[in-house]
Amino acid sequence: MHKNTQKFVITGGRRLCGEIALQGSKNSALPIMAAAFLAQGETVLKGCPKLTDVYSAMRILTCLGCRCRMEGSNAVIDSSSPGSFSISDELMGEMRSSIMFMGAILGRMGECEVSAPGGCELGPRPIDMHLAALRKMGAEINIRGGRIYCRLPSGRARGTKISLSFPSVGATENIILCAVRAEGETIINNAAREPEICDLCSFLRCCGADIKGDGESRIVINGIENLHGCEYTVMPDRIAGATYLSIAAAAGGELILKNACVAEMEPFLSVLEQTGCCVYSSENRIYLRRGGRLRAIKNRIRTMPHPGFPTDAQAVLMAALITAEGTSVFEENIFDCRYRHTDALIKMGADIEVMGKAAVIRGVDRLHGAEAEATDLRGGAAVAAAALSADGTTVLTGIGHIDRGYEKFEEAVTSLGGIIRRE
Ligand code: UD1
Repeated sequence: MHKNTQKFVITGGRRLCGEIALQGSKNSALPIMAAAFLAQGETVLKGCPKLTDVYSAMRILTCLGCRCRMEGSNAVIDSSSPGSFSISDELMGEMRSSIMFMGAILGRMGECEVSAPGGCELGPRPIDMHLAALRKMGAEINIRGGRIYCRLPSGRARGTKISLSFPSVGATENIILCAVRAEGETIINNAAREPEICDLCSFLRCCGADIKGDGESRIVINGIENLHGCEYTVMPDRIAGATYLSIAAAAGGELILKNACVAEMEPFLSVLEQTGCCVYSSENRIYLRRGGRLRAIKNRIRTMPHPGFPTDAQAVLMAALITAEGTSVFEENIFDCRYRHTDALIKMGADIEVMGKAAVIRGVDRLHGAEAEATDLRGGAAVAAAALSADGTTVLTGIGHIDRGYEKFEEAVTSLGGIIRRE
């Protein structure tokens, strides 16, 4: 996994000015690609970001018997005649989101065989909620030697009421994927309310599914027998949006984000504004200008399920706050190991103390370049953001992580006047 040996050489200290059109959302595109397996026909997914994770999803679909291709920025997936219900260990290991295929394969084929996801960069990733829900929908599940075998004895899942103990994004998506072709009504209580859940449901409705309540805690799905393909445009990537805004806030300058999902980014924008940056938004644009030094955030920044502050934006905002005036405190409530980027930031001169769930950021005047490693996707982007604001040059390895989530990252940064080179 992530055997990319390339690196970014970044020289900081430049103000960044310009416009970026946001890519389509990775966290939407991947579950929607899994959902395309449910449709009997061709799906055209417009605005699909060209990311290594997206190519991994295409390889999985191909192994399942679909015909897939990229046409410009459209992913075209033909699921007319699936030939397999099994995903190899190797393909499962390429990305964490592969677990999304479990619900989709089960829903289409009545059985599936996948691998249990191992631990990942963010700590253990249990799937107990996914499995308990699928069992409640009638699946017989056996786990042997790291492989998960699921089977629906009658060929179709049965609708039921599922109450999640935590609004897990992945579990909510897997249940929806299995429920759209189930017999009867499935009700999910305490469902995740992330915008990407709504995007998945909008896509499935375009394919004929009957889903209500997405975006709220109670989602109701009435199973139907067949879904058809459709054309659908993926929503903009709110986390890539938060990343580029954080980069401009860290380095200073002016940024216009085009194709932005302003309402969905509100939990992030409302915190960003407290740093003293000018932030204006119109229908689908966000404008940011940073003149003087940023201010620390007074209240704890607590990562929470949507509409709380997103865990995926914790690292990138931290990169901007390390040179702010005063002390900011993050509280990471979603993942146990989501402060691994702090080692690299400290190497660059940041004053960060991690205490369990909390990270205390005492603002320093300046950062300096260093040799650093990206240890996960958002953490890697955070180190790149810090490097763009630092004096001197940073050599950032492990950038395969960044390529999983950002389309043409260095082109975007270069277009703003930043100095970044891939080697
Ligand atoms: C999470 C984030 C999502 C983000 C994604 C990628 C939340 C709520 N979810 O989604 O916004 O885009 O990571 O970084 O912020 N859990 C269990 N058992 C399960 C499933 C989950 O205990 O069966 C726990 C996890 O260990 C974790 C928490 O629930 O502590 C959140 O998990 P979940 O929302 O499922 O994670 P992702 O779907 O990966």
